[in-house]
Amino acid sequence: MLNVGIDIGGTKIAGGVVDADGTILEKVRVETPVDTAALASAVADMANHLIEHHDVSAVGVAAAGFIDKTHSVVIHAPNIAWRDYPLREILQRDISLPVSIENDANAAGWAEFRFGAGRDVDDMVMLTLGTGVGGAVMVEGELFRGGHGIAGELGHVRFIRDGVPCGCGQNGCLEQYASGRALQREANAIADEGGERGRALAELREQKGTISGPAVSRLVLAGDEGAREALLRVATALGEACGGFQAVLDPELFVIGGGVAQLGETLLEPVRIAYETALPGYGDRPVADFAIAKLGNDAGLIGAADLAGREV
Ligand code: BGC
Ligand code: NA
Ligand code: ZN
Repeated sequence: MLNVGIDIGGTKIAGGVVDADGTILEKVRVETPVDTAALASAVADMANHLIEHHDVSAVGVAAAGFIDKTHSVVIHAPNIAWRDYPLREILQRDISLPVSIENDANAAGWAEFRFGAGRDVDDMVMLTLGTGVGGAVMVEGELFRGGHGIAGELGHVRFIRDGVPCGCGQNGCLEQYASGRALQREANAIADEGGERGRALAELREQKGTISGPAVSRLVLAGDEGAREALLRVATALGEACGGFQAVLDPELFVIGGGVAQLGETLLEPVRIAYETALPGYGDRPVADFAIAKLGNDAGLIGAADLAGREV
């Protein structure tokens, strides 16, 4: 059985035809339009293009927001202008096959769980580090959805009291300390310090006008002290939060995805250390493993396709 999966990202919309083993048969990408109506029609066009060329059963769409239990409405999106936005209904006007909407991190986490880094475990937590911090919780083999469909918003757990304001309307959320954007913010703060440690970051900012996430990663790998400090702050926030998630969910495995995760072990090492410092009963209890996501940018569309098949 084939499904279409479409992942709406901040800069790109990626779509693909996916089979029951999670293999992508055809893949397409377009820039994400800023206007919400244009965005919806870009998704519909993409779905219809893929449907035309393959014998597809259903369409799953991954989006960065709180999706209601019926997989229809974006109730809230911290980093996009969607409030109670009936995305499914809008897409369904133009798509003849059944459409369902899924949280982007749930989709990516589900793909990693079924076909990627988590395929050998039953209890797994996924964290995606991008503009936001996405979460997905797999408990005893199932994606945990909670009472209203919005469980697993791990990026919006309060991490610091009276902390940095967050797009969700709260402040101090983990997302403000452990996202790709947080890495940029920390890098800017270190550049602002003015000392030797921040010099390479300050020079980069002068040249390019801004400090991008990938640029920080390159400096980290080149051994730059300021960039490494920025990464350490983000990794520490993430690891400490995982210690708390362990207390609640007791996963066997944490899978970390998103742009920052391309740093691999360089990211995971400090994450593990911070996790241990925050883990209740550390030394006596079983601990979780940490792994980098395996499916990269395809995880969202693969998971959306696989989940669409289940829910229709
Ligand atoms: C949103 C999540 C989303 C994550 C990653 C967060 O800000 O609340 O719904 O999964 O960003 O895009
Ligand atoms: Na989620
Ligand atoms: Zn928040």
